[in-house]
Amino acid sequence: TIHARQLLTMPEESDALRDYDPQADLHARDREIVGAIDDAGVFVNDGQIEWFGPYEERTEEAKQAPQIRAELVTPGWVDCHTHAVFAGERADEFVLRNAGRPYVEILEEGGGILNSVDALRRASTKELADALLERVFDSVRAGVTTLEVKTGYGLTTSDELKSLKAIQMVADQEVPCELVPCFLGAHAIPREYRDRRDEYVDLVCEEMIPKVAEQNLAQYCDVFCDRGAFTVDEARRILTTGQDHGLIARIHADELTDAGAARLAAEVGAASADHLEYTSDDAIAAMADAGVVGVLMPAVNLFLGTTDHLAPARKLLQAGCEVAVATDFNPGSAMTQDLGLMLTLACTLYKMTPGEALRAVTIGAAKALRRDDIGRIRTGVTANLTMLSVPSMTYVPYHFGTSHVSGVVQNGEFAYW
Ligand code: NIG
Ligand code: FE
Repeated sequence: TIHARQLLTMPEESDALRDYDPQADLHARDREIVGAIDDAGVFVNDGQIEWFGPYEERTEEAKQAPQIRAELVTPGWVDCHTHAVFAGERADEFVLRNAGRPYVEILEEGGGILNSVDALRRASTKELADALLERVFDSVRAGVTTLEVKTGYGLTTSDELKSLKAIQMVADQEVPCELVPCFLGAHAIPREYRDRRDEYVDLVCEEMIPKVAEQNLAQYCDVFCDRGAFTVDEARRILTTGQDHGLIARIHADELTDAGAARLAAEVGAASADHLEYTSDDAIAAMADAGVVGVLMPAVNLFLGTTDHLAPARKLLQAGCEVAVATDFNPGSAMTQDLGLMLTLACTLYKMTPGEALRAVTIGAAKALRRDDIGRIRTGVTANLTMLSVPSMTYVPYHFGTSHVSGVVQNGEFAYW
C-alpha cells in the first residue's frame, strides 16, 4: 500500500476541462480535472490496482500490506511519441540549424532523417537493442512507465523489421517500462526512391505493412505527412492500408506547413494527430468531432528554435479535443527524453495549466494510444505509477530542469532510487 500525500486519479471526463477562465481559480479547477485525493492510499496487488481512496478508508487487506510513504503519486507517465530506436547522432545538424539552416531544407537536401537512415542500416539488431535499452532506463528515470517507439530510420522492409525486432528484444527483457512499437515506414522517401516515390509507397503498402501485421510487430501505423515528406493522398493510402491490416492510424501532422494532415487524421479516424504547429481551425473542429487526440511536442520548437510558431493547445482544449504531450525523442528535432521538462514547456509555451499538462502525459497520452488500461488510477487497471518528491502538483512543471521523480511502479513492480 502506498500512502500518498496526494494522489491524482485522472477522471475520464470533466466538465471543468471545457471551461477555462484565466481569471478564475485555476488551482481549484486543476484539482478537479486531475481528480486529486489528499492523504490517499493505493493498494497494489498482482500487478494491478486493487483499491485506492482516502488512506483512512483502506481495506483490511491494504492495512496488512507493507506501507510505503510517498508525496505526489500520479498514473505512470506515458511518452506516447518517440523515435527512440536509432543509431548514431546528428549533433552537426544542430550546429547547422543554429547557424540558420532550416530543418526542412536539410531534409529536402537529403540529410536529416536520411542521415539517421544511413546509420541505422549499418547497425545490427543487437546494436539497436543495446542502445535502446540504455535509453529506456533514461526514460524510466524521467518517470515514464510506457514508452511508444516508432521505426522510420530503416526505410527498407528488412531494416524496418530489424527496428521492430530490436524493440521487441528490449521489451522481452525485464525492464520497468512497457514499450509500444509503432510502424513508421513512411517517415521519409529514401534516397534510392527519390525519383520514383510512388514505388516507395507501393513498397510500404504491399510489402511492409502486411509483414508488420502478419508478424504482429506493431499495432500502429504512422506517416509523416508534410512538406519534404508524404502528401495527403500518399498518407491516406498508407493509413487505410494499415487499417485494413488491423493497424491503428496515427499521423505526424502539419509540423512544418499546413499540409492538411490533421484533417486527414479526422477523415480516416486516426487515434492521434501529432505536432499540429500549422493546423487550421477547421481541422481542429474536425479532429474534435472525430475524437482524434492532439499530441503536442514542445521540445521540437525549443530545439529547432521555432517557438514563434506553436501548436494551438488552448484551441484544441477549447474545441474539446483530448490533448497529449510527448517528447518526440529523436536525434534530429528533439534530442531529449525529459518528459518532466515537457510539462514546463506545456505551461509556459502552450499556456496549459499544471493539471492539464499532467493529464496530457497520463490519460491524454493513453488515449492517443487508444489504451484504457494505463494512464489513470482505477481499480483493476495495471499498477503503473509515477512517484514525485514535490510539495504540490504545480511544483512538477514549476521547478524545472531537475527530475522530481523518486520512483515508478510498473506492472506492480517498484523501482526506486
Ligand atoms: O517527429 N517530423 C518527423 N519526424 C521526427 C523527426 C525525426 C528526425 O529528424 O530524425 C519528428 O520531428
Ligand atoms: Fe515524431
